[in-house]
Amino acid sequence: MRKIIVAGNWKMNKAFHEADDLVFDIVKHIDKNGANGVEVVICPPFPYLELATDITENDGVFVGAQNVSNQESGAYTGEISAMMLKSIEVKYCIVGHSERRKYFNESNQFLSEKVNICLKHEIIPIFCCGEVLEERNSGNHFDVVKNQLTESLFHLEAKDFKKVVIAYEPVWAIGTGVTATSEQAQEMHVFIRNLIEENYNKRIANDTSILYGGSCNPQNAKELFANPDVDGGLIGGASLKADDFYKIIDSF
Ligand code: PGA
Repeated sequence: MRKIIVAGNWKMNKAFHEADDLVFDIVKHIDKNGANGVEVVICPPFPYLELATDITENDGVFVGAQNVSNQESGAYTGEISAMMLKSIEVKYCIVGHSERRKYFNESNQFLSEKVNICLKHEIIPIFCCGEVLEERNSGNHFDVVKNQLTESLFHLEAKDFKKVVIAYEPVWAIGTGVTATSEQAQEMHVFIRNLIEENYNKRIANDTSILYGGSCNPQNAKELFANPDVDGGLIGGASLKADDFYKIIDSF
């Protein structure tokens, strides 16, 4: 059975006291109302990860990092390793977000190294894929996503691939207020699931959680999540406000 996941990607936002408040609010809400079978994940900036893992301990809310080094340890000034994340009980890590690809030139090959190192340290990668607008307009979106998955994920043995979560995030929908239509999301999620079946098997394809990301908000979440192949969301802007985030979680 695949997991339903709603993950909040806070990106580079919030001061310490604001992060503290938001984590507390989310935990309080989940304690009181439950999560309706949804695995709730929050991905704050690095300096707040330990605070988040402390507050969420035993509370049904899990913590993810937004990035990780492709290196094990050593002289890599400014980097954060998978071992460090594991040592503070971080469960997930976003890998290959389009902002990392765009502003930090992270290639599919480089991202495959990050996926490997996460898995080695038992951190679940939330691997992001998705096309830019020109690629969609020229009808290349399926090829782009296929290439991203092939070069960064499909080298994995089945036992490792099974641990990966995929997030389809059309780049033209991220932070723009333009969401993929429900049909566009479902179509790409089916395409991804079929690729997984071709590379592994039907069972693994069925068990892989494929999240949608890109301007998902309390107004459109229900419709997007109603699709049989949309197994949750990776939420940016709307995860920064506790009320919006709960409403998205409650959309399942
Ligand atoms: P958005 O971001 O929800 O603000 O569009 C999603 C993401 O970047 O993961």
